[in-house]
Amino acid sequence: MKERISQIKALFLAQAKAASNLQTLQQLKSDFFGKKGFFQSLMDEFIKIQDKESKKEIGALLNDFKKEAESLLIENEKALTLEQSNNQNISFDPTLSVPQADEKGNLHFYTKFAEEIENVFLSMGFSIFEGPEVEDDFHNFTALNIPKDHPARDMQDTLWLEGKQNLMRTHTSSVQIRTMLAQGAPLAGISLGRVFRHEATDATHEISFTQCEGLVVDKNIGLGHLFGTAKKILQEIFQRKDLDIRTRPGFFPFVVPGVEIDMRCVFCTKGCSVCKHTTWIEVFPGGLVHPNVLRSCNVDPEKYTGFAFGFGVERLAMLRHKINDIRLLKSGNINFLKQF
Ligand code: DAH
Repeated sequence: MKERISQIKALFLAQAKAASNLQTLQQLKSDFFGKKGFFQSLMDEFIKIQDKESKKEIGALLNDFKKEAESLLIENEKALTLEQSNNQNISFDPTLSVPQADEKGNLHFYTKFAEEIENVFLSMGFSIFEGPEVEDDFHNFTALNIPKDHPARDMQDTLWLEGKQNLMRTHTSSVQIRTMLAQGAPLAGISLGRVFRHEATDATHEISFTQCEGLVVDKNIGLGHLFGTAKKILQEIFQRKDLDIRTRPGFFPFVVPGVEIDMRCVFCTKGCSVCKHTTWIEVFPGGLVHPNVLRSCNVDPEKYTGFAFGFGVERLAMLRHKINDIRLLKSGNINFLKQF
């Protein structure tokens, strides 16, 4: 019987090591250790042994065999399960549907909208100014006539970086300062880019959004130039040659006088929910560059004057495309994006 045990054991070990998948291993388990398996037939023989010594010896051999087999089965099962799941992850399913030819990638409509705005300004002779998103106190506040402890600093909730030396720019007005310091006057340009505010998000507010800042500095620049530019830009963006604007007083420390520019509602003539039944929509603020700002940038306010404005690009995109939640713009929601 010892001979048979060692033969069956050798056979089992060889087959168990060779098993290359879970099904084979399962089959092996039932062939050897199932109710009618080889091990059971050995047990049937074992029961019949009368001699105490031989019974002890054979019993120990059977026990060892069973223990060894069990641990080998567990080990192999683990390894094969892992292998199978890895294979499933990279398995190729030829029946999967593939994107249709007309579903090829595209620029995000918002990227295109921003480029369109830049092109309108470029066609009017403006240049594009660039500036960093991480700013310092001087360029974001002090040079813009917002000294330390000035209450106007509270108008924009600032995201300060560690050490409170630097901050995420709260507006693109900081680029005015960098450009005037670098180029002096005269100049005309816009800066379109991301700005950051430490505030709660909702349908009209995001922690990060895009602003377009405009700046023109030259001899004899007045409010008329600002209004004419604003009107032309809005007419181009909304593709309405008859689009009218109106202005109201506004306050920003870096301009004097400061103004708020509204445009006629593009959705109605008698009042609707978008224009809050006034037929006017507030679009952007601006004004004449404050002499202190010009001085901070080594531009002589006796010689030069300028106008500036700054608008939220998302807000204009939302108005043009009738989008009611700013968060949709960066959501990556494919059904939303497919509409454009
Ligand atoms: N920087 C202002 C803001 O973020 C927007 C702004 C207002 C810019 C008036 C200007 C301006 O250039 O003249 O709210």
